[in-house]
Amino acid sequence: MRIIICGFGTVAQSLAKLLVSRMDDLYAKYGIKPRIVGAFDSKGGVSDPAGLDVNRLIEVKKKFGTIRKYDKSKKNMVGLDIINNVDADVLVETTASNYRDAEPGMSHIISAMKRRMHVISVNKGPLALAFPSLMELATYNQVLFRFSGTVGGGTPILDYAKNSLRGEQITSFAGILNGTTNYILTNMARGMSFEAALKDAKSKGYVEADESLDLDGLDAAAKLVILANWIMGMKVTMPDIKRTGIRGVTTKDIKAAAKKKCAVKLIASCNKELIVAPREVPVDDPLCVNGTLNAISFTSEHSGTQTIIGRGAGGTETASSILRDLLDIRKEISRD
Ligand code: HSE
Repeated sequence: MRIIICGFGTVAQSLAKLLVSRMDDLYAKYGIKPRIVGAFDSKGGVSDPAGLDVNRLIEVKKKFGTIRKYDKSKKNMVGLDIINNVDADVLVETTASNYRDAEPGMSHIISAMKRRMHVISVNKGPLALAFPSLMELATYNQVLFRFSGTVGGGTPILDYAKNSLRGEQITSFAGILNGTTNYILTNMARGMSFEAALKDAKSKGYVEADESLDLDGLDAAAKLVILANWIMGMKVTMPDIKRTGIRGVTTKDIKAAAKKKCAVKLIASCNKELIVAPREVPVDDPLCVNGTLNAISFTSEHSGTQTIIGRGAGGTETASSILRDLLDIRKEISRD
């Protein structure tokens, strides 16, 4: 399986290491031999149809801050040169999410699909802004589009609802889908001010480079768009979400909730309307998880309410979701 990786940050490096460390096992168990034939970051990239040396890619990235120096004898290629000229089976999109125009991820995904590559994205931007049309493009080009890591990181939230609950009619769901705001609200409940809790979350590296993505609920809203389309069959994008972040949550609100044996959580919900907003959740509700954890409760017609809890971010966790998607694509292709 020939793979192009877009972006070479923490997730992509974790994926590259994971593929190498699991090489024998993946072949023995699933008959797949992943080979990274192209990779690039914002400064440029490299390709080799025989497969790039993963350890060297990681070393070069560490030393020079970019993988373009991997092979000095070769002409530097920018991302779209690689996607448009290198033959591959799967494109893995890991560049940063942005909710203004979703670039550069959007162009990567569109170009790859037009070249008949299957696509795995952990970048939420393109899905949040154009889920329905990207799905159509994938169908038109007869390629598979997978994005397990966009919701819940390594926790298989999308797979659970789509596959484990297959045949069920999910009527509503509600979840804590952003670990950073959960960490901040948890610390506020323990007595910290918003400012101190934010500073602490930043010092631990949890907060996005653009803090607004976490604090104003954009990240949670993007995940809600993905769930609504994939699980509920809706055709919605970011403007369809009613969104309030956590900047307005005060210590007074948190104390008032505590008196009612509740905690304030940033909840993304789908129940007639699609809403991201701070809400009081009873502390004994399975959804009421603390720290950076994510949790989501699905309510279905016949099986009641079920909650899935796990870590929603992290390089190795998200890399494992990409591996799941690769195996899924492999299974679908061999079925054909
Ligand atoms: N900023 C996100 C979070 C990262 O805090 O959950 C994972 O999407």
